[in-house]
Amino acid sequence: MANISKLHRDELLDKISQIRKFIEKTNRDENSTNLLRYLNEIAKDVKGKKYGLVFEEHREAIDEKLESHIPVLVEEEKLSIDNGGEQNFLIEGDNLAALKLLEKTHKGKIDVIYIDPPYNTENSLTYNDTRVGLDDEYRHSKWLSFMRERLEVAKKVLAKDGVIMASIDDNEAYPLKVLMDEIFTENNCMGVFAVIKAEGGGMAKYLVKGHDLLLVYARDITKAKPLAKDKDIRGKRIFINDVEYWIQEDAIRETFGQYGNLYYEDVLAKRGKEFKKQIDDGIKNNEYILVPKEKGKTIIGKLRRVDSDYSKFYSVIKHLNADGVNTLATMGLENYFDYPKPVSLLKEVIKGATFFKNKSIILDFFAGSGTTAQAVLELNKEDSKKRKFILCTNNEVSARQKLKFIQSYGMLKGYVPNKQTTENAIEKKIYAEFVDGKDGFEKLVKKHYDFYDSLGICKFVTHQRIKNILKGYKSKIPEEKILYDKKITKTNLGHAKDFNEEIESIIEQNKIDRGVCQIKLTNDCRLQLSVKSGSNTLYQAIPGSLKYFRIDYVPISEKLYYEYADELLLHIRELVELENGINLNNNTEIAIILTDEEMSDFVENNKKKKNLEIKKIYYGHNVLLSGSQAAFMKEHNIKLNVIPDYYYQELEK
Ligand SMILES: C[S@@+](CC[C@H](N)C(=O)[O-])C[C@H]1O[C@@H](n2cnc3c(N)ncnc32)[C@H](O)[C@@H]1O
Repeated sequence: MANISKLHRDELLDKISQIRKFIEKTNRDENSTNLLRYLNEIAKDVKGKKYGLVFEEHREAIDEKLESHIPVLVEEEKLSIDNGGEQNFLIEGDNLAALKLLEKTHKGKIDVIYIDPPYNTENSLTYNDTRVGLDDEYRHSKWLSFMRERLEVAKKVLAKDGVIMASIDDNEAYPLKVLMDEIFTENNCMGVFAVIKAEGGGMAKYLVKGHDLLLVYARDITKAKPLAKDKDIRGKRIFINDVEYWIQEDAIRETFGQYGNLYYEDVLAKRGKEFKKQIDDGIKNNEYILVPKEKGKTIIGKLRRVDSDYSKFYSVIKHLNADGVNTLATMGLENYFDYPKPVSLLKEVIKGATFFKNKSIILDFFAGSGTTAQAVLELNKEDSKKRKFILCTNNEVSARQKLKFIQSYGMLKGYVPNKQTTENAIEKKIYAEFVDGKDGFEKLVKKHYDFYDSLGICKFVTHQRIKNILKGYKSKIPEEKILYDKKITKTNLGHAKDFNEEIESIIEQNKIDRGVCQIKLTNDCRLQLSVKSGSNTLYQAIPGSLKYFRIDYVPISEKLYYEYADELLLHIRELVELENGINLNNNTEIAIILTDEEMSDFVENNKKKKNLEIKKIYYGHNVLLSGSQAAFMKEHNIKLNVIPDYYYQELEK
């Protein structure tokens, strides 16, 4: 927080003003002009911030890279999946570069952003290829610099009525709140959820940490709708003209804000003529309905449409992280990704944030194992809405995967780290295997790059997970049936012997083989008997398609603009697909035309058609439209975008 006192600030400003006056009095030359400019900058900084976050700004390697390179997208065709449904995208690479690309294709177009950034605990943040440890005294400012850059671009891609949600725990939650207040403004904070993520005692030293926070901001709170959920309708349902309503019986009270219905028979006496007219008009317009009650009286029920009624969220929700791990376990991926979020959490909040939209785009630029993708696909299947996802995550290779990599070349054979061994410790052990340490390891990586690359999160976990969902898969863990479940409390603890007998009798009666049953006490003190049924659940394929794009970089050099333009044209297809949410192979409304020849063929082939499907053409900067071709486009209302100018305006500078 700003720690400069007002008095001190005023003193500094006074000194600056004295120096300024002195310089202004002396002869003005180029040096004094420069000095005055510096002074203005210093004064601006001193006046600057009176409340907010103050932290040391850090530059990342990606900042340098983006100054000397242009990020482009390259499709990895063998990883794309054409499976009908909505067209979704998985972008592998640094999310800052991905966001800069999305700024070109999706400015103001994203409906929901969900992020689950590294919590900056125990080496979770990788900064310039190095894990930031708890002993790094700049770890908070590094994390904040990292987040600020990304959130600033994220704001630009959010739609006017869009919403951004960020999961975090108390390690960085409070700086993040202030940072998001600065970027999105405090007014736009829709609220903060406490998400209960664990049950039971744990090994905590001081407090058992049982919840995460989920910060929710609107791009513009005056345009955003509340997060909403299906209403738990308790009232009677009726159909009027094929529309389903439910009757809210306590809508019209005798005294506003207090319990006690106002009967229709008493309206005139208690609320007057004007109010009775309102009710009578409402009854005619299907706003109210009279519901007969005892003693010949009738209640004025409010008719609420079932299809558009909703409840708002309570700010405490419960979704156990263990469920996230279990979901990955059904795919055999649980050992390759730590801390996946539970699918149920993502489903609940994405459904809430898209409640009033039939079509929406959901972006997650810290996608990790891809929980957001699974949530979007499952939600679409359940309510037939058209949500599309864009996920971005880097292809970081975890220490355990690095170990697997070197073990496949005969090194560290037999070394099995236990669950508690940190990533740093494993990496240290790996690098120690090489005479030239980390450099030696990197040489081996270079030699077998494709294999190494296939072990990264994005390829090994995120893509595999989405593929499973799109193609259907058989669970890797046998189904478990719980046959006995008893909550152990202080009062019933004395009857533990009875519980044992109850369990034994279930085993006997059902002739259960003791080899397949398990008796356990869960974290939340439930005594359970379960059996592995032997059969593995089959998860049906869910419709949806995926394009897998990797971020690459084209170096900026002294080349002429047009030489560049040709190089960038090679990556236009991906941007057009991303911008329009399509696969150009099966789309008939959008086309890319790169040469004069292609342009004349296009016009020639379509001249005789009355209703053209094509709505938009991206055409190369070298193509010169003739007068008749331009007239043809106008006549058919075809939108024209010149490429690469359309995407790479920054080059013109
Ligand atoms: C906490 S995890 C997200 C987990 C995810 N919500 C899930 O349920 O699986 C954060 C992810 O962001 C990725 N990540 C971190 N920094 C990144 C960056 N600069 N660009 C892209 N991805 C990044 C990490 O590799 C990690 O997979």
